[in-house]
Amino acid sequence: MKKIILAITGASGVQYAKRLFDYLQGKAELHVVISNRGAELLRLELDLDPDYFAGAHVVLHKNNRINVSIASGSFLTDGMVIVPASMGTLGRIAAGVSGSLIERAADVMLKERKRIIVVPRETPFSSIHLQNMLTLDRAGAIIMPASPGFYHFPKNVEDLVDFMVARIVDQLGLDQDLIPPYTA
Ligand SMILES: Cc1cc2nc3c(=O)[nH]c(=O)nc-3n(C[C@H](O)[C@H](O)[C@H](O)COP(=O)(O)O)c2cc1C
Repeated sequence: MKKIILAITGASGVQYAKRLFDYLQGKAELHVVISNRGAELLRLELDLDPDYFAGAHVVLHKNNRINVSIASGSFLTDGMVIVPASMGTLGRIAAGVSGSLIERAADVMLKERKRIIVVPRETPFSSIHLQNMLTLDRAGAIIMPASPGFYHFPKNVEDLVDFMVARIVDQLGLDQDLIPPYTA
């Protein structure tokens, strides 16, 4: 089973994280980390408790506990997704600040040249946000704004969420059957 780290931070759009978790559960070993603000957003937008992110092949880590597997480059993983990614977390990773498990795990992915997908949600972007995203892109991260397309004729919010989740799963190099590839 592939090992995937799923980090949930305090930006709007935790729906993407829940759907990604639901879709990958059972298909990959999931290491979930949720920031304090991410937990607040889960309650606010989905009325969901962080304990939701449990189950077979799932490890729910505490963000303030750094002395765990995913904080080490010796623990081999296949990818990390930060979704949604707040500008705060994004900025701290870009600055190399590894004060939380999410920041440290991201730092490890970058130094080990591993796949890390960052899904920011903010609008508009300041030049600081853009600079931080450029820094992360240059360090090897994939910056993938929560920006669903409309060419699959979404009927509801779930369809829009699925568009983003399908693209994230594509980027992880895993098969997905949420949204078929576009054919003209
Ligand atoms: C209701 C609410 C919505 C927020 N939405 C966003 C957002 O979409 N993008 C963002 O970058 N920050 C957003 N924030 C601000 C972050 O939660 C805040 O910067 C926080 O310190 C981020 O912490 P974290 O990166 O540790 O999760 C929001 C805050 C609240 C309370």
